[in-house]
Amino acid sequence: MTASISPTISGILLAWYDRNARDLPWRLPPGSALPEDPAWPYRVWLSEVMLQQTTVAAVKPYFARFVEIWPRVEALAGASDDDVMAAWAGLGYYSRARNLLKCARAVAARGGFPDTEAELRALPGLGDYTAAAIAAIAFGRRAVVVDANVERVVARLFAITEPLPGARKAIRAAAATITPDARAGDFAQAMMDLGSHVCTTRAPRCLLCPLADSCAGRREGEPERLPVKPPKKQVPERRGTAFWITRARGTQVWLVIRPAQGMLGGMRALPDDGWSAQGDGLGKVPLAGEWRKLGAVRHGFTHANLTLEVQALETLSQPRGAGQWWPVEKIGEAGLATLFAKAARLALASAD
Ligand code: ADE
Repeated sequence: MTASISPTISGILLAWYDRNARDLPWRLPPGSALPEDPAWPYRVWLSEVMLQQTTVAAVKPYFARFVEIWPRVEALAGASDDDVMAAWAGLGYYSRARNLLKCARAVAARGGFPDTEAELRALPGLGDYTAAAIAAIAFGRRAVVVDANVERVVARLFAITEPLPGARKAIRAAAATITPDARAGDFAQAMMDLGSHVCTTRAPRCLLCPLADSCAGRREGEPERLPVKPPKKQVPERRGTAFWITRARGTQVWLVIRPAQGMLGGMRALPDDGWSAQGDGLGKVPLAGEWRKLGAVRHGFTHANLTLEVQALETLSQPRGAGQWWPVEKIGEAGLATLFAKAARLALASAD
C-alpha cells in the first residue's frame, strides 16, 4: 500500500498543534470533544466574524464583552441595533455588525445554527470562509478553510507561483488535498496558527516549522516570495512635450501658470503641448523657430506614466498667451512641480 502524502502533513501539523495551539477565549483545547451546548457555535461564529480583517489582540476584549452581554444567539437577536452598534464601536468595518445582527435574528428564527457548510453559507452575511470555518470548528465537519494565513502556508507548501488572485483556485485545490476528515476544526486552526506565527509574510521561521521537510517553497529557496502578489495595476503611458523658451542668451525662461482645473492646476510650469488635457501631446508649438530636442524626462503619476520630451528655443519674440519671463538663475524658486523641475534640469544640463 502506498501512503498518500495528505495524512502525513495533517498528522504532523495536528501533532504540532497539540503542543503549540494558542489558548484563545473562543477555542477548545486541542483534541477536545465538541460541546453539545448551542452557545458553542454561537461563540465560534461571533469570533470568526470579529476576526475578519482584525487582529486576535483587538478582538479579545470585544468578544468578552459581547458574550457577557449576549451569551446566546437568541439574546443577541433580541438586542437593539443601537446597542449592538455601540458595543461594536472601535472594532471597525461596521457592516460586519449590521450583518451580525441580521444573521443572529435569522439563526434565532430558525431555532439555532445549521451544522453544514452549505446551510451556513446561506445565512445573511456569511461568506465562503466563515461558513467553512464554522462548519469545521463548531461542528467538526470537514471543510476547506482558507483565509489569508492559510493561503500563504499552502502557496509555500506547494510552491504555487501563479500570482494572486488567479492562484486562489490552485491554492484551494491544494488545501483540499491536505485537509483531513477528522479533527477538522483543529486542523483549520493549526493552519491559521502556523501562518500567523511561523509561516509569516516576511522572514518565515522555517527552522521552527513542522512542515519544513515537506515544503516545496522552502526547497526552491525563497518561500517569502510566495504567494506572488498581483502585478501592480497598469497605468497608461502618456507622451508630451515641454518647451524651454529662453531669451537674453538663455538667462530668462518663459513660464506659465497652469489652468486651475486639471493636473497640477494653478502651478507655475513650462509651457507644454497640452498632453495633460488631451492624453497624448497635441504637438502644439507655442512659437515658430528652430527647436532643439534636448531629450526626455519620465515621471510617474498615480493615473499615468509620462514621458515628457523637452524642446528648447532661444527667441526674440514673445510667446503666445499669458506667461512671464523668469530669471533662469532663480528657477529653483519658481515653485515648479517635480515633473517640470526635471525638465528644467535637463534643459540647464544641455545648456552647459
Ligand atoms: N483568525 C480567524 N479565525 C481564527 C481562529 N479561529 N483562531 C485564530 N485566528 C483566527
